[in-house]
Amino acid sequence: MFFPEYRPRRMRMNENLRRMVRETRLSVDNLIYPLFVTEGEGVKSEISSMPGNYRLSIDDLVREVAEAQSLGIPAVILFGIPDEKKKDEIGSEAWNPDGIVQRAIRAIKKEVKDVIVITDVCIDEFTTHGHCGLVKGDEILNDPTLELLAKIALSHAQAGADMVAPSDMMDGRVRAIRETLDDDGFQNTPIMAYSVKYASGYYGPFREACDSAPRFGDRRSYQMDPANSREGLREANLDIEEGADIIMVKPALAYLDIIYMLKQEYDYPIAAYNVSGEYSMIKAGAKLGWIDGDRVMMETLLSIKRAGADMILTYFAKEAAKILGR
Ligand code: PBG
Repeated sequence: MFFPEYRPRRMRMNENLRRMVRETRLSVDNLIYPLFVTEGEGVKSEISSMPGNYRLSIDDLVREVAEAQSLGIPAVILFGIPDEKKKDEIGSEAWNPDGIVQRAIRAIKKEVKDVIVITDVCIDEFTTHGHCGLVKGDEILNDPTLELLAKIALSHAQAGADMVAPSDMMDGRVRAIRETLDDDGFQNTPIMAYSVKYASGYYGPFREACDSAPRFGDRRSYQMDPANSREGLREANLDIEEGADIIMVKPALAYLDIIYMLKQEYDYPIAAYNVSGEYSMIKAGAKLGWIDGDRVMMETLLSIKRAGADMILTYFAKEAAKILGR
């Protein structure tokens, strides 16, 4: 039937009708809150390009996690910012059982009940060169890095992490991590793999937060070319074959087509990372008075869900949870 018999506007005439035909719903259940943990006590230093997000010492981090939990957010993901002096060529501080992330996990697990603690597994925040793999000359080495990533993941699991999330984009790391976890009795620790992670300009503010920008070159030899989508299917497929429990697309907004594609192709849970630059753009636009920040935030998160994401890692988690809880 066509106009004038059929009129789509009929079902938009009031909010009750709109509610009845609404196809997608964002829920607090879908949110994962990324947090940055740093050394010290009573440290809460705002990340200038990410207003409302902070580098937190463990004491403040625990308070922040408790607040997120009380808003109904089911999970947090931790990024460690080690003491500058602890950084080395191989990122050894990343698997120190008393490293910043490991201590943070133990503190959260002690103080906050019923929250899923996910950890980012990567060496870039812990290396002097800032790359996600071992470096030889100008080359980022793949295979020798795998063992380190597995060690990091294991140290997180041993400290009490509920889930590990490798973000390095080395080939074969999901298998290496799965085998190591299984050998040590962590068969029930899921892996959320950053499967389709692009070499993106949208990570800028995060790199300021962690001081993790590569000191030479760029990440294009391991993160994906933004021009490619079919390659993303192969990446996701590899991670699934190697034992990933959740596959992630990152960034989210400029890659909604990739989220949609994976949703059609796989029956695995899909995560999307609403990254730092996506957050900062909305905050900046709102600060200038050019857009309605809350409205654009909710619309953006909804679009990521509509594209097919089951969960969204987002710096907006607390703000969105407050709006969803109204
Ligand atoms: C790498 C990592 C990055 C992000 C998460 N894990 C940065 C990068 O690849 O340079 C970026 C997240 C964001 O921008 O919000 N360990």
